[in-house]
Order: sequence, then structure tokens, then C-alpha cells
Amino acid sequence: MIVIIDFGSQTTHLISRRIRDLGVKSEIILPQNAFKSIKKLAPRGIILSGGPASVFGKDALLVEKEIFDLRIPVLGICYGLEVLGQMLGGKVAPGKKKEYGRTDFSLKKNCNLFAGWEKNKKDFTVWMSHFDQVVTPPIGSVVVGSTPAVPVAAFADEKKKIYGIMFHPEVHHTEYGQQVLHNFVIKICGENPLLGTKKIEEIKKYLKKEIGSNKAVCALSGGIDSSVAAYLTHQVIGRNLTCFYVDTGMMRIGETDEVINTFKNKLKLPLVVIDGKKEFLKNLKGVIDPEKKRTVIGETFIRIFEREAKKIGAKILIQGTIYPDVIESQGTKHSHKIKSHHNVAGLPEKHGFKIVEPLRMFYKDEVRKIASESKFPREMVARHVFPGPGLAVRLIGEVTEKKLEILKRADKIVIEEIKKAGLYDQIWMAFAVYTGIKTTGVTGDERKYGDLIAVRAIESRDTMTSDWVRLPYDVLAKISERIVTEVFEVVRVVYDITTKPPATMEWE
Ligand code: XMP
Repeated sequence: MIVIIDFGSQTTHLISRRIRDLGVKSEIILPQNAFKSIKKLAPRGIILSGGPASVFGKDALLVEKEIFDLRIPVLGICYGLEVLGQMLGGKVAPGKKKEYGRTDFSLKKNCNLFAGWEKNKKDFTVWMSHFDQVVTPPIGSVVVGSTPAVPVAAFADEKKKIYGIMFHPEVHHTEYGQQVLHNFVIKICGENPLLGTKKIEEIKKYLKKEIGSNKAVCALSGGIDSSVAAYLTHQVIGRNLTCFYVDTGMMRIGETDEVINTFKNKLKLPLVVIDGKKEFLKNLKGVIDPEKKRTVIGETFIRIFEREAKKIGAKILIQGTIYPDVIESQGTKHSHKIKSHHNVAGLPEKHGFKIVEPLRMFYKDEVRKIASESKFPREMVARHVFPGPGLAVRLIGEVTEKKLEILKRADKIVIEEIKKAGLYDQIWMAFAVYTGIKTTGVTGDERKYGDLIAVRAIESRDTMTSDWVRLPYDVLAKISERIVTEVFEVVRVVYDITTKPPATMEWE
């Protein structure tokens, strides 16, 4: 097995998932007392994750130096590379230029970590997210790669098998990132790939243990995660499961009917539809802060579920939470909170449920795979991701019926045109944002002070990083033309061309 020391990166768990893809086990540990944990676990390799701290800041997180004398191969990623630089005789300094998202990495010298890369080419696209940088590599190491802003972007001490890379090999946007991990885990550490884990069987075993012969309710949002969670739970506990779908009024046009049709007629799940439109709007009145919005939404959901569950005597709530929801809502000791996903940190502390989350350790693409293996309708597996708080987080400012209505009509046009262009299936999600900005327009020679709608279309695989889709100009033109003519209130349309990081996918 491989030990991953977690310095609080948003993608630490993704490293473990990539290692799981290689058929190898890993364990995530904290930097505090890492030496003792490593002695006990006796791993074949150690990975130092990224993290938000600075090695010379007040909140610097380091590890015991003895770890590097254990003769276990080490790979430092991003902050992990800086830890190696700082602790093994190199030098770290604040960077002059920040690098977030895509950058070009040039391989300067080959080494075991990059074995096989030279066959591809010499320059690679990698993803970064950092500020500090190593200016002198550790004693005994040589520089093996650099980027335009970072001369020491990778170093290697082949004798001691200690490697540092500034970029994130675990995110799928890094070219050949999985090959770097493969080289480290299999070739350098000498791990043996085991057979893949039987995920579905493991999830069912877990559900049986957690629920037993009790009654449970499942919160269905219409998305793939809660649907898979409900479907597997239904297979395990049958009639003891009741699914709730709440129409919050913040769904897209036609969505509620689609969801009811899929669950009732195709997946044959026991479904209760609850009209929560008035309650959500009332609770969101005057709420502007996005974190507050999510908390209000999380609380409203749970109060509705409590009320309905009481009627049938259920005390267990099944949620389709996946790992990126957990990590963004601060799932580990040293990671920063990015946003409180409504079903994780958005939940009130006091509620009457035992919460069971069978997919908590999985990523979206793994959930989609489980759905395909479980013979879910194709349109459901391919459906774009939609956040639980719905259009509330795609609408900046206070949520009102009027703004929701404008946004819904604009959003429908975005999806229709992307489907017409045959691009829907290649995209992680596409949507309109009600920006809350008023802007000047001119219609029929008249000045019109109207709304600004932003359009976002992104691709991603595991939620942790994403790139904006290069939609053809003609498609963008059609979307813009239709929005400004069909949605009377809108006078201007812009396209969001930001990657994640630094932007998140949703605007709030
Ligand atoms: P961000 O905006 O954090 O989004 O880059 C990552 C993915 O998560 C979805 N998302 C949410 N899903 N509750 C959810 O169920 C939430 O509060 C929430 N916030 C974001 C988002 O749609 C994207 O697919």
C-alpha cells in the first residue's frame, strides 16, 4: 500500500482514487505523527499531497525528518514538493507569478518518474495551483522539468527515490498524469496491482449494515448521485424505502415532470412528490450571501424531510453525497472550505435523522459507471450535473420568482441549442447564470436598462478541475441571439471562459 500524507489539498482524496484505479490500496494520514503511522503501516511508497499552507508561513505544516531516512520512495506534489525543498537542503521562495490552471511543462531530463513520457513529446499540458516555489532543489536532486514561471517544477533524486513535482498528476486535465502515478506506484515503489474492487457489492453490504430492518427515506434531486443511492438502497431494503422528491421551484423548465417519469415509470422507485415552492422562496427572502443560501436550502430540505418521514416512521435519511461535495465543504483536517454543499455543511446541526451516504467516497465518473452497470436509462446517465440547491446558486443576489423565471427561460435556450448542435453528451454541464448586473441596451432605438445573462459550458471528469468548452462561434451566436430576443428582460449575454481553478464551476 501507499501512504498519502494529507497537507489539506482539495485533491488529496483524488490521489487515493487514482491509486485505486491502478488496483493498489492507499491510506491517507495526517502530517502530525506521520513517522509513527508510517512505521506501523509499512507502506511501499509515500506521497506528500498539496495543501493551502506556505512552508515558511506561520501555519506551515511539515513532517518529521526521519521519514526521509526510511528508504521508502517519496513523491511530493505541489506543497509536498515545497516540503521536500524546505526540509532536504533546498530553498523555497514566494513565487513572483501565480499559476492557476493550465500551464506548459517541459521535460528537461528524463528519470524513472517520467519514464515513457519522452515517447509522447517534450512539452506537456499540466495543471497547477500554487504561489510559492522551490528555487533550489534538495541536496542530491537534479531539476528534471520546468514551466515558464517555475524553473524548478520537477526534481528527482534517483538514488534515494525522492521526487518532487509542482503540478497535480491526479487531475485528469494533466496530460499523462496517471502515467506519473503509475511510474511512481508500480515501477518505483514496486507495488502489485490487485484486482479491481467490487464496488456495487461493497456499497450494498454497507447499506445492509447501516439500515438493517429499519425504514429509510431517500432525498432524490433528479441527479445521478441520489438516483444511484436510492436505486441501490431499494435493491437492499425494498419496501422499507420511500423516496422524496421536493419541487423547490428552482428546477429547470420541465425537470420535475422528467424526474417523476424516470423514477416512477423507468426505475420503479417508490416516490412521494412534495411541493416545496412556497416554503423555499419564503425562507430565501432577503438572503444574498451564497453560503447562507446553501445553509437555508439545506435546512429547508431537511425540515421538509423530517415532517414527511415522521408520517411513515422513518429515521434514516439516505443522501447521494459524493466525495467532491465532502471535500469542498471541508472534509479533511487541513483543507480549506470552498463552499458548503447544501447536503454536507449546509445541513443544520440538529435534525432527527441518522444520515447514510453510500457514495461518500466516490467520484461522479465512478457513480456514472455504477449507473451504467445497473442498467440506468441512458439519458439519465448522460444528464448534465445539476446542483442540489438548483438555480438558487446560478442566480446572484436574492432569489425571487421573477428572476427565477428569467433564468429558467434563458437556461432552456442554452440547453436546446447545445443539444441541437449535438454537443450535449460531450459536456459536463452547460447553463445560464442570472448575474444580477443591470446593463444598458438599445432596442428599437430605445434605451433599455436590462439584465446580463452569463453562459457557462464546461468539461470535467471528476469535479475537481474543469475547463471551459470551446463552443463553436455559431452556437454561441445562436444562444445569444435567442436569449436577447426571446427573454425580453435580457439585453446582454456573455460567455464565461474561466477554468477551475481558480473559478469554481457554479458562480456561487
Ligand atoms: P463547484 O461550483 O463547487 O461545483 O466547482 C462542483 C460540482 O458540484 C455541484 N455543486 C453542488 N451540488 N450541492 C450539490 O448537490 C451543492 O451545494 C453544490 N454546489 C455545487 C456543481 O453543480 C458541480 O457539478
